[in-house]
Amino acid sequence: MCGIIGYTGPRPAASVLIDGLKRLEYRGYDSAGLAVVAGGRIQQAKAVGKVKALEEAVAGSGALGSLVGCGIAHTRWATHGVPSEVNAHPHFDESGNFAIVHNGIVENYQELRRHLEARGCHFRSQTDSEVLAHLIAGAYEGDLLSATAAALEQVSGTYGLAVVSRHHPGMLVVARKGSPIVIGLGKNENFVASDIAPLLPYTREVIYLNDGDIAAVTAETIDLRNIKNVPVEREVAKIDWDAGVAEKGNFPHFMLKEIFEQPETIENAIRGRIDHEMGTALLNGMNLTARELAQITRIVIAGCGSSMHAGLVGEYYFEDIAGISTSVEQAAEFRYRNPIIEPNTLVIPISQSGETADTIAAVREAAAKGALITALCNVVGSTIAREAGRGIYLHAGPEISVASTKAFTSQVVVLLLYALLLGRNRRLNRADGNELACEIEAVPGLIRQVLKQAPKIREIAQRYAHCDDFFYIGRGCLYPTALEGALKLKEISYIHAEGYHAAELKHGPISLLDERHPVMALANDIPGKDKIIGNIQECRARKSPVVAVITEGDDSVRAFTDDVIEIPACSRFIAPLPTTVALQLFAYYIAVERGCEIDQPRNLAKSVTVE
Ligand code: AGP
Repeated sequence: MCGIIGYTGPRPAASVLIDGLKRLEYRGYDSAGLAVVAGGRIQQAKAVGKVKALEEAVAGSGALGSLVGCGIAHTRWATHGVPSEVNAHPHFDESGNFAIVHNGIVENYQELRRHLEARGCHFRSQTDSEVLAHLIAGAYEGDLLSATAAALEQVSGTYGLAVVSRHHPGMLVVARKGSPIVIGLGKNENFVASDIAPLLPYTREVIYLNDGDIAAVTAETIDLRNIKNVPVEREVAKIDWDAGVAEKGNFPHFMLKEIFEQPETIENAIRGRIDHEMGTALLNGMNLTARELAQITRIVIAGCGSSMHAGLVGEYYFEDIAGISTSVEQAAEFRYRNPIIEPNTLVIPISQSGETADTIAAVREAAAKGALITALCNVVGSTIAREAGRGIYLHAGPEISVASTKAFTSQVVVLLLYALLLGRNRRLNRADGNELACEIEAVPGLIRQVLKQAPKIREIAQRYAHCDDFFYIGRGCLYPTALEGALKLKEISYIHAEGYHAAELKHGPISLLDERHPVMALANDIPGKDKIIGNIQECRARKSPVVAVITEGDDSVRAFTDDVIEIPACSRFIAPLPTTVALQLFAYYIAVERGCEIDQPRNLAKSVTVE
């Protein structure tokens, strides 16, 4: 979950590195550091806390901030060793001739450390990463790329790695296995990073390294090989994200900006993907014929967090619309439990970042069992997107806030399009397919109506900001919607919120209900509403305050609630989308009221690239 940036070229390296780290901070942020090779030596600065602290350290270190040369930098999300300056990257070998920044886990670092210490190496940090610097120094015989390759041959685990050495001014060596590394191509300058966000102000042309790739990068050249030292070719991808999109604009937080972007991001997810003539969806990126789609007899969805919740909504879609037996797996479970995959099983990994370690492993497990795999990702060229080989991009643009909002709703929309396609590939007729297609196209308008309610939702949220616990309940597609709503509140407000199937409350959790345990009830006017009214009454009988999401104008629920959030009328398939936006706003305004850090909540990182 760490962020890496490297630069080689004529600009003062530290300014490029610091700017890049600021754009990576959402990946992990308990400490940061940088190293610049200039004047025959490596100069460094490190700081605990956010990148701002590092920027101040560089400003106070005299010449470092203006040095022209090559450099590497890192913002850390600790996996081994507490957040501290000594554990912050870059890490150095004993001589100080080599510096590295690393994202990933060196699983055999203790054994390697013992061998290195037995050979007289002295370690400064508690991290696993530091062994890499010592291994490279020990393997160095004049060629930095070969020394790095030789060092990595001894490593088991994962790495996105960047290396500099005072012996090779102007050169960055990068390598990748399990943690992303991308090279940004400039004019008389080049960049390396753990994802594309820090590259956007400088270049739109990037090369994604594959697992096992290693490269020596200078301002003018890129020598790309595999770990066996064989030259490899990688395509140059063109990034169409606008740098401004990765900025906050006039919103106080990325999260609010991304909530308000959802009408447009859902329009982007739909664009070019509906065929009214045939009443179906067009998902051509999958390169699957109608005949191949018709042979699918079972679907397994794998993901983590919000992506898993989106999959749980998709389960209803695939079974109810397409009539295909579907299950959803937490990706870490899927990868380890020896899942049953038959020849006609379709596996759908869902991942906004495309770099979640457990979901990558789930893709590999599915592939090893011969599954047909189509991924849902947001990041072009991400590991899951490439290893799945087929899939559907969300086109939601960079999602910077750690709490997923626009990616989740785009995942749900794409799953609905996918179910429409598979449904029309089976028993859904053209007219019904077209009716659903029209409902999908109306979603951005519904969300715009919910966003207009933001002031009212804020007013309600402020009344519940003092709560320490919250229950979210729903039925049908609104059950996973309740799970996602509870996750949003948990992760940004630190309130202990739990999502439950509404019918499940009376099987135990209801014992907790009292005036201090409010309930968010998803009581939209869709099948099952009468049952949830009964559940609301059960909650009220225990003195729990009840906030309900209701269909506007539906007074049948209002009488049993303390507060209501009204959303536009829509079908049971569409209801999760506007409802989720209302719950995102509810969580956001509670977190703001509680003075919480919104875009980078404590303990979290945007992409969980370690197990
Ligand atoms: C969602 O708000 C969280 N940030 C988290 O649950 C996230 O959805 C999960 O880590 C999966 O990430 P991915 O979609 O990038 O794989």
